Amino acid sequence: KDLLHTITAILPDNVTISSVRQHAPLGLGHAVLCAAPLIGNEDFAVSLPDVLVHSEDGYHATDLINMVNAYRETGSAQIMVEAVPREEVTRYGIVDCEGVDLQRGEASLMVGSVEKPSMEDAPSNLSIIGRYVLPAHTLELLRRTTPGAGGEIQLTDAIDDLLQEQKVYAYSMKGKTCDCGHKLGYMSATITFGLTHKTLGEPLAEFLKGLDI
Ligand code: G1P
Repeated sequence: KDLLHTITAILPDNVTISSVRQHAPLGLGHAVLCAAPLIGNEDFAVSLPDVLVHSEDGYHATDLINMVNAYRETGSAQIMVEAVPREEVTRYGIVDCEGVDLQRGEASLMVGSVEKPSMEDAPSNLSIIGRYVLPAHTLELLRRTTPGAGGEIQLTDAIDDLLQEQKVYAYSMKGKTCDCGHKLGYMSATITFGLTHKTLGEPLAEFLKGLDI
């Protein structure tokens, strides 16, 4: 019964989950468009589930909550970013904040965003990290977005169009990311989150300390 409760208690009473299926891997922008009938004419958040965010305060949604609050205050899109080593920019959407030295927890106006640029063309090393708070209008822009990097419809391209029309902010995350899109990242996430677990954290730490490595 206790185990069953941990699963059934995950969903707060006021939350409903609905799902839609993206029939072909045509890009993140296309995936968001698949959800358009659910979103309707509301502002919305996008959270990519292969990127886990780990906060030092142990509350994993802190950064997204900060972004939602900033959206409510400013009415402007918030895109979560993190600095990555220069050689990794080719794996991400990269934002242009005109060279601003962004501190963790701070936001800065964006003047551009480009999906998976070459190292030479990257406007910065600030990568988009799988959390977005966006106005409903983004869906209209996505409908007009033509295939970009990798032949896919890119959310990053629609955001680049959005910032030509209205303010868009890059929010520098406070937490740490675990990218579960590759095997080592998935294993690291299991350990990182396991160590914070109420009952298993301590025995896991003991186990790791005892490993002869
Ligand atoms: C997607 C986005 C990219 C972002 C990345 C990590 O890329 O298109 O802009 O930086 O997620 O959140 P993907 O990992 O699907 O190639």
